[in-house]
Order: sequence, then structure tokens, then C-alpha cells
Amino acid sequence: MIELRAATELDREAMTDFVAGLSPDTSWLRFASGIGRPTRALVTSLLRRDATHGAWIAVRDGDIVAHTSWSLLADGVTAELAAVVSDSWRRSGLGRLLGRLAADEAAENGAQGLRLELLPSNLAARGLLLHLWPHAAGHDGGGLLVYDVPLRRTAGAG
Ligand SMILES: CC(C)(COP(=O)(O)OP(=O)(O)OC[C@H]1O[C@@H](n2cnc3c(N)ncnc32)[C@H](O)[C@@H]1OP(=O)(O)O)[C@@H](O)C(=O)NCCC(=O)NCCS
Repeated sequence: MIELRAATELDREAMTDFVAGLSPDTSWLRFASGIGRPTRALVTSLLRRDATHGAWIAVRDGDIVAHTSWSLLADGVTAELAAVVSDSWRRSGLGRLLGRLAADEAAENGAQGLRLELLPSNLAARGLLLHLWPHAAGHDGGGLLVYDVPLRRTAGAG
């Protein structure tokens, strides 16, 4: 069974293993680099939960298989959202479910909109984005597609 829950500091080792185990392509799409073994600082940022950050995970048999996070930008009303699902769990609905949890929590913490910056070639992420927010429109942001999505709580939708 898969457990979906907020990340905690106790997940540090599992998060380290999760990031280290991502395929190079997935690591590139999420972190814009081939990460390998993540630094302690990176894992800390992926687990961070406070008034301006949130982190959600999917856990199977003690292993993290997916992660989403949000962080409030300096304007205090826009949250940047990121998601990554291990290759073997793609297309199982985890990105959608964790994406909603992260977006709802960002809204509860004052976010009025989401920002996602995606490589134009990232069809999976663009598909997930449009699945969750069908009216989202992207604009060119220096080689990246930048989506600004007005945020309402999505719990119970779809
Ligand atoms: C993007 C990503 C998080 C999607 O996660 P996922 O768990 O596979 O997505 P879901 O199973 O929840 O898919 C929900 C919907 O999104 C859309 N979608 C997901 N993957 C898609 C793909 N490869 N192509 C087109 N649409 C896709 C579909 O509408 C899908 O619904 P459906 O399966 O009923 O058709 C995952 O592909 C991933 O980790 N990619 C690498 C990291 C990355 O690019 N992150 C985004 C930048 S931070």
C-alpha cells in the first residue's frame, strides 16, 4: 500500500536514497542537473516544512517513491511547485494526488497562485499541469515555459 503524507525530518535517509536512485533523465527534469547522491543541504530543502514551504511524499514499504514541494516566493502570494515521481511509479496518479496536496497547503498558507517553470520538452509535467489546471496558459520565459496558475483549493475536485 502507498502512504501519502507530509515529509518529516525522520525521512532524511529515505529522501537521500530516493534522490540518489532517480534516473539521470528524471533527475535532470526535476533538478536541472544529474544529482547523484544529494547533498545534506538539498535533502534539507526537500524536507522543509514551515510557513513558506511544504513537502509531501508517497511511501511504499519504507521507500519514498514520489515527492512534491511548494515554496512561497518573495511576493508572499506566489508558490513555486515542484514534483518528481520515480520512473517505476509514473502514471499511477501520484503526481496528481501529491500535487493537489501541495497546492492546497500552499493556498492554506497564503498562496494565491502557483508558478511552474518547465522545459518545453517536458510533456509529462505539462500534461500533469493541464490535468490539474486545464486553463493554465504558459508563456515563454527565456527558454522555459512559465505557467502562472490562479490558485483555489482543489480538494474534492476531480
Ligand atoms: C511530471 C510527473 C511528476 C508526473 O507524475 P505522475 O505521477 O506520472 O503523473 P500522474 O500519474 O498523476 O498523471 C496525472 C495526469 O497527468 C498527465 N500526464 C502524466 N504523465 C504524462 C505524460 N507522460 N504524458 C502526457 N500526460 C501525462 C495525464 O493527464 C495524467 O492523467 P492520466 O494518466 O489519467 O492520463 C512525472 O512524470 C515526473 O516525475 N517527471 C520527472 C520530473 C519532472 O519533470 N518534474 C516536473 C518539474 S519540477
